[in-house]
Amino acid sequence: MAESQGNDAPQGSSGGQYAGPRAIDPVQEHSHDHDPDFITRTKFLSGVAVAGGAVLTAAILVPIAGFAGADAVKTPKAQWVDIGPVSNFPDGQTTSIAVSGQSEWSDARVFVRNKDGQILAIWNRCAHLGCPVEYFKGGDNFVCPCHGGAYNSLGLVVAGPPPRPLDRFNIKVVNSGGATVGSVGKVHGSWSTAGLNPSARLLLGSPFSIDSNQSATRLHDPGEPVTGVLSNLYPF
Ligand code: FES
Repeated sequence: MAESQGNDAPQGSSGGQYAGPRAIDPVQEHSHDHDPDFITRTKFLSGVAVAGGAVLTAAILVPIAGFAGADAVKTPKAQWVDIGPVSNFPDGQTTSIAVSGQSEWSDARVFVRNKDGQILAIWNRCAHLGCPVEYFKGGDNFVCPCHGGAYNSLGLVVAGPPPRPLDRFNIKVVNSGGATVGSVGKVHGSWSTAGLNPSARLLLGSPFSIDSNQSATRLHDPGEPVTGVLSNLYPF
């Protein structure tokens, strides 16, 4: 009787002799302690965070470096363009001329202002968005037709959205042999009219920007301030 009960016990039970496959095998625990190629979730997430930080840093620094480089690249070289004898620009007047030359800056309209003992060359490119400003002899001022920007006879802003004065060109005067004659004027880029021979030639050089005190700075783009907090943030 006792022998019959032992033969009826279920096969594969924990106490039996059966060593074949079971219906549900126990989960195998694998250790990766000695696997050099295994990456834990923590390591993976750390790598993703570092890579994301690098991408973000590059996204900030690359444009800054680009704009800094662009400033260096766009600094114009001096290319003097002969715009005629001094007699073409009478004392006490502002004369508008179209200038053609080999550089992109010399293909422009320029207002040559001969007043107060010095000659200035003022670019007609509005400092707001670049529209061509017009000179009004009656008011001795410049007005932009696009958004109402207004400048006085020196090109300094008196009204409207322009963030800085009109840009200027360097000028100098030479004799028939090409030698420089006379001397620089009171502000950067100007030329003194003292003792000038009317037949001496006026040359137009590279453009530059100024602040409201007529202090020269590098050539800026339209819309770009030259002073204040915004000048450091531009173009952001
Ligand atoms: S472009 Fe001259 S005021 Fe806007």
